[in-house]
Amino acid sequence: MKIGIDKLSFFTSDLYLPMADLANARNEDPNKYLIGIGQSKQAVIRNSQDTVTLAANAAMKIVDDEERAKIDLVLFGTESGVDNSKSAAIYLQSLLKINSAASGVELKQACFGLTAGIQLAMGYIALHPDRRVLLVGSDIARYGINTLGEKTQGGGAVAMIMSANPRILEIGTQSTHLTRDIMDFWRPLNRDEALVDGQYSSEEFIQFFKETFNLYLESQDETINDFDALIFHLPYTKMGLKALRAVLENVDNLSVKERLLDKFEDSRRLNREVGNLYTGSLYLSLISLLTAGTLKDGANIGLFSYGSGAEGEFFTGKVVAGYEKMINKNSVKFLENRQAVSVSEYERIYRSFLKPQTDDAKTDFKNDPAPFVFKGQENQKRIYDQNNENRN
Ligand code: HMG
Repeated sequence: MKIGIDKLSFFTSDLYLPMADLANARNEDPNKYLIGIGQSKQAVIRNSQDTVTLAANAAMKIVDDEERAKIDLVLFGTESGVDNSKSAAIYLQSLLKINSAASGVELKQACFGLTAGIQLAMGYIALHPDRRVLLVGSDIARYGINTLGEKTQGGGAVAMIMSANPRILEIGTQSTHLTRDIMDFWRPLNRDEALVDGQYSSEEFIQFFKETFNLYLESQDETINDFDALIFHLPYTKMGLKALRAVLENVDNLSVKERLLDKFEDSRRLNREVGNLYTGSLYLSLISLLTAGTLKDGANIGLFSYGSGAEGEFFTGKVVAGYEKMINKNSVKFLENRQAVSVSEYERIYRSFLKPQTDDAKTDFKNDPAPFVFKGQENQKRIYDQNNENRN
């Protein structure tokens, strides 16, 4: 049975920060951010968006009444969850009015959460071929103003529906996986900003990729020539390029090198404009590649997922003929209509995020054009709303 991604969507903030402006404000050469890091813009997430609303805004694009009835599992990958007990999947299920017989859980392993969901969904659909699974990866990447990680912030959500006989990407049943207990990036319970050993994390990323990729090639008796594209989790887009170069070093065939480098450029197009979105990042890269419109039917894509701490997985997907009907450049056109903010406005918004607190508090939700918003908290309960309802 063929199992994979049948529908795919993406959402991020209507606001962005030009990276050249951030570089100037931090007394850095703009080319360090634009070329050295490989980022042009960074999504600036409003304080009226959280993991739940970002996910709802992405998933509403692919969930209609037919899906509401057929989805019976909701898998929510995130590392910026909004509650220590209650899963974000329940909020999402309620906001999207998915039938209440569906079950849902939150999956956490840094940026790896959504990939873990994909493997679970593969097994679920194999047992229930006529059912559909909704998956989301939703996060806000926050390191702090004027920190080393600041230039790799961002945020947003990717949503997908997985099923049998998928219309976008058929996922391979074989994958290779590596887990090691390392401290490259983590976020203690009392913090809303990540702690990171930046250079070490980048080195481990490459190491995890090389090990899982080589293990895959050996176990499947394949070579790098068998791939039309290799795509990556992209905490910053230069990271993927560095990992790709690490395996291209040993490739003599120039046309293979050229093809993989070309496709990599297609795959980092949107990530360059958004920044890190943790769990969704690899899948935004997939959307980038698919919406570039340069893939042939049946193209063989290798995907590398990395979640700090750390877990890495290499798996594959085959592009399904006619995928452009399900996802194309119109699906991401909204990115062109975003508004630039100044560095001081970005800093104001960044500082205005609600801290966990006992007092009731409201966000600036009235200014937020997104369909779903986080209004604030009352009696320590989170209040969500949809745009067309009474926004006051
Ligand atoms: P940094 O130390 O300020 O940057 O921060 P750098 O000095 O290493 O410079 C970056 C690149 O810019 C270098 O190129 C420079 O040569 C180049 P590279 O050697 O890497 O090829 N450069 C220039 N290029 C052109 N023109 C110039 C110029 N100047 C310098 N004028 C760092 C970089 C990534 C460490 C920092 O931003 C950081 O700590 N970010 C957060 C951590 C991170 O993203 N790690 C990635 C791997 S871990 C991961 O992917 C998991 C994660 O997503 C979390 C999760 O799993 O949940 C983070």
